[in-house]
Amino acid sequence: MSEPISPAIRWERDDTGVVTLVLDAPDQSANTMNQAFRDSIEAVAARAEAERDSIRGIVVTSAKKTFFAGGDLKEMITYSPGDARRIFEGGMAVKRALRRIETLGKPVVAAINGAALGGGYEIALACHHRIALDAPGSRIGLPEVTLGLLPAGGGVTRTVRLLGIADALLKVLLQGTRYTPARALENGLVHEVAATPEEMLDRARAFIDAHPESRQPWDTKGYRIPGGTPSSPRLAAQLPAFPANLTKQLGGAPFPAPRAVLAAAVEGSQVDFETAQTIEARYFTGLVTGQTAKNMTQAFFFDLQAVNSGASRPEGVPPREVRRVAVLGAGMMGAGIAYACARAGLDVVLKDVSQEAADRGRAYAEKQLAKALARGRTTEADRDALLARITPTADPAALAGCDAVIEAVFEDTALKQRVFQEIQDIVAPDALLCSNTSTLPIGTLAEGLSRPADFIGLHFFSPADRMPLVEIIRGAETGDEATARAFDLVRALGKTPIVVNDARGFFTSRVIGQFLNEGVALLGEGIEPASVEQAAAQAGYPGKVLALLDELTLTLPRRIRDEAKRAEEEAGRVWTGHPAEWVIDRMVDEFGRTGRAAGAGFYEYDENGARVRLWPGLREHFCTDATDVPFRDMKERMLFAESLDAVRCLEESVLTSVADANIGSLLGIGFPAWTGGVLQYINGYEGGLPGYVARARELAELYGERFEPPALLVAKAEKGDTFTDA
Ligand code: NAI
Repeated sequence: MSEPISPAIRWERDDTGVVTLVLDAPDQSANTMNQAFRDSIEAVAARAEAERDSIRGIVVTSAKKTFFAGGDLKEMITYSPGDARRIFEGGMAVKRALRRIETLGKPVVAAINGAALGGGYEIALACHHRIALDAPGSRIGLPEVTLGLLPAGGGVTRTVRLLGIADALLKVLLQGTRYTPARALENGLVHEVAATPEEMLDRARAFIDAHPESRQPWDTKGYRIPGGTPSSPRLAAQLPAFPANLTKQLGGAPFPAPRAVLAAAVEGSQVDFETAQTIEARYFTGLVTGQTAKNMTQAFFFDLQAVNSGASRPEGVPPREVRRVAVLGAGMMGAGIAYACARAGLDVVLKDVSQEAADRGRAYAEKQLAKALARGRTTEADRDALLARITPTADPAALAGCDAVIEAVFEDTALKQRVFQEIQDIVAPDALLCSNTSTLPIGTLAEGLSRPADFIGLHFFSPADRMPLVEIIRGAETGDEATARAFDLVRALGKTPIVVNDARGFFTSRVIGQFLNEGVALLGEGIEPASVEQAAAQAGYPGKVLALLDELTLTLPRRIRDEAKRAEEEAGRVWTGHPAEWVIDRMVDEFGRTGRAAGAGFYEYDENGARVRLWPGLREHFCTDATDVPFRDMKERMLFAESLDAVRCLEESVLTSVADANIGSLLGIGFPAWTGGVLQYINGYEGGLPGYVARARELAELYGERFEPPALLVAKAEKGDTFTDA
């Protein structure tokens, strides 16, 4: 007997009295918590109560590939503070309906057939028993915090009661970890993992047979929250560390979600279940109607999806698989790239100038795999198979048959050109030719190649095997075919590709350069170095600005500047310069402090290269007590310097997509996550684009022309537009 009880959930009852609730939203590829679903859950609760006496138990599963996708983000992103009441009421209605099913007195089992993230896992949490199918790619968890939200379908209330406050926060709520079924089992998120759908459903029925009167632990007499409540001495001693750690982690940046999660968990643990749910709903309503959640949802959900699904991939080019990659240069980047390729199942020929250097590159993969093995993340057999795919060599002839080349030799134009000319006739005749240069124009590197249309920039970030982004740079002569193949290669590595056009510094290196310059300019204005670092942290940057420049070495911006200056002057234009330049020059020429590699930069380093402290000479040589730049201005100067330059990148067609800009800035160069990326920051700025333009003009007045808003931005602000991809 199968009837659609409501638009989104099927009620299927067998002749033994077991009801299977099949989550199956019509005309949608995934189940989301929209109005149809909210209505359906209420209808299901009512029917379950009405037929209670004839039901033996309930199995909840889904007809889609995923179990349940969670909140309807398209809907959520439109919420404004005026909707608060409606959102709160709607949320409470779903919670009450789930609660009615949970307290029916009959066993309820979640048969989690695919990904159960956010709302999906919350539905499963309301069940007495959770069985996850070990489906490929399936993930379980509550990632709301990564979208600036908190789980508001009972997720905070129930994980705290299931795992205890500390574990709920650390394992589930604060990081938003997405677990594989096996790891979800290890961490107590599910009770069982099944290998096949049949096994999953058999076990669900077995649970119902064995537990005719199931109830949740927290609805059982004498129940106590594992690990205690904040009033128990052990936890009371532990709890103050949480907000302190959060502050340290977030650096004072405006991330309301983790703080709200913490508050909802702690407050909710001290009251009864129903009140805890109300508390959770109240915090959620505050978050979902605020700007940060909109920024993060736009970027980490919609933009990321657009980018990964190929919005910037040239249309109509059929996919062609890369099987064998040549990685040229087995240094830091080459080694990481080779490992990433081998991990994705590609055969890799890793070439350096000597066999020893090439072997050292492969040793990087060995080291990473040893760690993975120790943590139980791989097996000996998989490790051996992966290592066998990497062939280190010094012999160019070994590159025969490679259908893609990724070059990562020293950052030197002549060397790179020579390396490509040497191998272009050895590799497959139509091999894709990629350079991992971080600064050199792609057009110049392609000079002298017989197939410039196959040549493209593939800019990885360090460490290449861990950083999720790759910036694809099209040279003037790069063809669509090469662009599409590069895109597919990056996706095959499990990474996110953005596509930009060739220009000095491309998009990412150019824009992060503005951040670094601004930090140095502040120092040059006489501001305390520690305050400069603090401002970056409070703006939400993951790293300190002066420390980052030390890592990259101070001679790098100087070399880039000298080249840019030469190019400007050759083109007959006047080099305007940047107020950071004289500071860098003094650091390099007068003090010989070029950064961490030299053991001395803005910071002092110990013999192991660990940062000891800011160099006291900075105060002596650059600080003037007379300077008074408000903290807000310091933070905004960094954020504006980058976002304004991103607009210029759009104007100059270096960027062709807003999503690429946002994702590139977030995943590649550490633009603060709460902003939703360089262009979303402008969209979400107080007062929208007009507010941002007014503030840019103010900063230009106070600190220099570089903050003058570009024409494209002014025009958009006047038209009432925002930055979006059509
Ligand atoms: P590295 O100095 O660690 O490695 C360069 C390697 O190239 C060395 O092992 C060297 O022996 C080898 N090499 C030199 N000439 C060669 C030749 N003719 N044939 C084969 N191998 C040769 O440098 P790193 O940091 O790995 O950088 C490599 C490239 O990646 C550079 O273009 C750099 O700009 C770019 N890049 C670097 C990033 C970083 O964070 N270090 C980030 C993104 C790109």
